[in-house]
Amino acid sequence: MAGSEQNAAAEPGSAAWLAAEWRGMQRRMLDCIATRASEMLDRPLVVDTSLYTDPARHRAERERLFLREPLLAGFSTELPEPGSVLHFEAFGPPVFVLRREDGGLDAFRNVCPHRGARLVTGARIGSGVVCPFHAWRFGADGRLQSRPQEAAFACEGPAPALTRVPVAEKHGLVFLRLDPAGEAIDVDAFLGPIAPLIRSFGLAAAQHVRTDAVVTEANWKLVVDVSCEGYHVPATHPTTLSPQLVPFITIHDSFGRHHRFASPARRMQEWVGMPEEDWPVSHYSAVHYLFPNTILTYSDAIDGGLPVIALNRSYPGRHIGETTVLYSSYRPASAAELPEDAFIALHEAVLGINLSEDLPMVGRAWDNYQRLPAPSRLVFGRNEMLLQRYHTDVAEAVGMPLRLPA
Ligand code: FES
Ligand SMILES: [Fe+2]
Repeated sequence: MAGSEQNAAAEPGSAAWLAAEWRGMQRRMLDCIATRASEMLDRPLVVDTSLYTDPARHRAERERLFLREPLLAGFSTELPEPGSVLHFEAFGPPVFVLRREDGGLDAFRNVCPHRGARLVTGARIGSGVVCPFHAWRFGADGRLQSRPQEAAFACEGPAPALTRVPVAEKHGLVFLRLDPAGEAIDVDAFLGPIAPLIRSFGLAAAQHVRTDAVVTEANWKLVVDVSCEGYHVPATHPTTLSPQLVPFITIHDSFGRHHRFASPARRMQEWVGMPEEDWPVSHYSAVHYLFPNTILTYSDAIDGGLPVIALNRSYPGRHIGETTVLYSSYRPASAAELPEDAFIALHEAVLGINLSEDLPMVGRAWDNYQRLPAPSRLVFGRNEMLLQRYHTDVAEAVGMPLRLPA
């Protein structure tokens, strides 16, 4: 089902629109609970382990996805004022994003054109950048302004400058394209039909709580996979997440190459047969996949608990079997009065579940894939809709469509 079909009355992206969106999702979840049947695709998708282990596919993903596609680098509020810097070091040559005096953003490779030193390490810079190695000075526009012993470097060719990469900001999100030769980023074109939903989350006022970088032994797509289905929750998270959610019920929506799934809270089981006007107040809560590597969990509140804005972003590491995962949490503007400690505790709880329950499962599967003597059959179920869809999209984007085993 396309997102927002039932949601034509309110201004797209408004709070009323999000409430109507959620009402439509609740109806679908209650239908599923009543019929004891999750939403599903028509058929399972059979693939094999080469989807994760083929070096040629992996090279293509690094180049065509992670260098050429827009990647979510962070939230606008992570660069609150002129001179603020946001670092992006999870994949490829490091980049720093700089908030200009006029409020716009520039992004440069954090690599000195003299002999390659890391230029910026802090969270802000003043009027320019001075390389810590030999003190070449660059303006905020990236051009060389001065260097000690200028005469020692007189030579033909263009003046040295920092390498600029495309950056864009909208709906509170900052996107980078890591290829310096890449075209400018059009955020709305990239987000496509999911843009109103993202806008409705009010992320432009969400404050960064914490980001943890974790390096894990598995292919990056296996790490994404575990956040893209609710099917594993009863077995993998029996005491942490499963007690909150109705098992094996998920609803799914696709917004072009971006997707969403949601599972009903257990208390919704009591609403079956209840007139809609008697449903207790509840708030939007869903998991969103943003192409190609980002999971955004947005929940206005869980059973009266804290609202959640959590990202996890997976990037290929130094080789096919290594992934860098960034786990980030943000505090919504609506929760500005709540104590910071509560959000740090929430971040640590989510991180703990990922590290102790999800990643060990992923790591052992990856170990199996590598030990198998030949590519072996795997299957994405009819209920694992998001896996079927995102793997298909990723495979097409890298020019290596899925070849289904006979
Ligand atoms: S490496 Fe930066 S000034 Fe030498
Ligand atoms: Fe999980």
